[in-house]
Amino acid sequence: MSSGVSYTRSEISQMAGYVPGQQPAPGSRVIKLNTNESPLPPSPAVARAIKEVLQDDSILRRYPDPQSLDLRRLAARINGLESDQVIAGNGSDELLRVVLDTFVDEGETVAFFNPSYSLYPVLTRIRGGKIKALPLFKNGAIYQPDLAGVKLFFLTSPNAPLGFGFSNDYIRELAQNLNGILVVDEAYADFAGNNALNLVGEFDNLIVLRTLSKSYGLASLRVGLGFADSKLIAELDKVRDSYNLDLLAQIGAQAALSDQDYLKKTVALVINERRYLGEALLALGFKVEPSQTNFLFVTPPVGLRAEEMRTQLENSGFLVRYFADPELAHGLRVTIGLRSEMDQLIKAVTEILKFGE
Ligand SMILES: Cc1ncc(COP(=O)(O)O)c(C=O)c1O
Repeated sequence: MSSGVSYTRSEISQMAGYVPGQQPAPGSRVIKLNTNESPLPPSPAVARAIKEVLQDDSILRRYPDPQSLDLRRLAARINGLESDQVIAGNGSDELLRVVLDTFVDEGETVAFFNPSYSLYPVLTRIRGGKIKALPLFKNGAIYQPDLAGVKLFFLTSPNAPLGFGFSNDYIRELAQNLNGILVVDEAYADFAGNNALNLVGEFDNLIVLRTLSKSYGLASLRVGLGFADSKLIAELDKVRDSYNLDLLAQIGAQAALSDQDYLKKTVALVINERRYLGEALLALGFKVEPSQTNFLFVTPPVGLRAEEMRTQLENSGFLVRYFADPELAHGLRVTIGLRSEMDQLIKAVTEILKFGE
């Protein structure tokens, strides 16, 4: 019998949950450009490694390595760090939550720019932290924010959903000014010209996060990596789930990381298609934000509303991402796809523009 009493914590009952981008049912015939997945499958080495480990029909009976040690060693070696400077997570989303649980007491302030990754405010609320959302630009330019009283700062670099990257000089100054932890969320850094990994040895308050969901084409395996001073990693290790990565994720991630040639090819393809789509949309009258990622944030020509264009594209079989946030509602975020997908998208947009005239 229902008593009508709610036992939910007030923060939770009052908040809205995170809304991920739409995932069409398997087999749907849509061109999916809404959640920044890779247009290519992962390296064939991933399926080979997973099949091989499953040859042992008893393997799934046992728990996986709770430390994901082989994966951490490999990630450290590839990035020129020690394995005690690396943590693996069930997606970088898990690591964001673990960082909050490790460093933020209830009522402490967590800051980030708006717009950036819209999961930060949701996780901060769940933790009971105080949100400080800062404008991304002042007088049209990025700036060093006032960090007084901030315990944790999430910096998305390159920025999502706009796409531009922050320089290492900027990140260095932010880390120096902050009396707390700076997380540089580098989900898209493989597509960028620079990254902050070489600052890990310089700062003991810096955590760099990476994901295998984008450039490695492994969104469904859920693997993220964190790089930081070994003392920070040891604290994060106490907080994560003891078996946070399942066996297949560990094996698949190692195979993907081992195939750096495949990563380079994927990244080169995406960067090439990013330029191709950007130039085509520019020629059609769109405003195209400079991008260091696997997506473009674009604003339709004057007279066309982004939300309306999203709907028209959906009716033509394309999923792109629209954000109702007032800072972003003027544009659409479009994930870079294969040449054939980009050509079909350009054709559909051209039709919509003709129709709209
Ligand atoms: C900025 C940013 N950080 C983290 C993530 C999540 O990555 P993962 O799939 O590793 O949880 C995303 C995914 O869209 C992202 O855009």
